[in-house]
Amino acid sequence: MNNHIQMHHTDKQINGRREFISKALAGLGFTICCGSLASILESCEFYEKKNPVDSSGSIVELNVAAVPEFAALGIGIKQTFKDTKGNAVNGGYPIIVTRIGDNQFVAITGLCTHDACYKEMYPPNEIVDAIVCTCHGSVFNYQDGSVIQGPAVKPLAVFPTSFDAATGMLRIFFA
Ligand code: FES
Repeated sequence: MNNHIQMHHTDKQINGRREFISKALAGLGFTICCGSLASILESCEFYEKKNPVDSSGSIVELNVAAVPEFAALGIGIKQTFKDTKGNAVNGGYPIIVTRIGDNQFVAITGLCTHDACYKEMYPPNEIVDAIVCTCHGSVFNYQDGSVIQGPAVKPLAVFPTSFDAATGMLRIFFA
């Protein structure tokens, strides 16, 4: 692994996680993956234009409280999902979902851009702070899908998300 991959478990991170869990339990209202109010409004507007509610765009809903990994930041899950109509999304390939903030999640395809491995794609975990494909050793940034280490040269696709802190529901959107 190269030196872009950081290890977990520093005291600061552990304290940060405790603080995060407290905040998460408090519930802080509805926000979308982006940080500022301006970007939230902008992304809503953009999303609604591109994906009107009555369109065929697929939406996956995920109850965050039912996923133990989401109690911590930077620990991802990898699984296949069906949309709210029961149809497979991402071509039936897995998606890697990681909590990166109180109300921020990232959903990234679990299909490697190098040679289409997916069983060998591993989400970020307590040891490795990246998405790793053990087929040939590619490493990806779990927050934006960019390539950290080849042989892959193309980034992983990132799917838009929104999180409703009031209901604990994470939504992942597909064009
Ligand atoms: S298929 Fe992932 S590194 Fe080759």
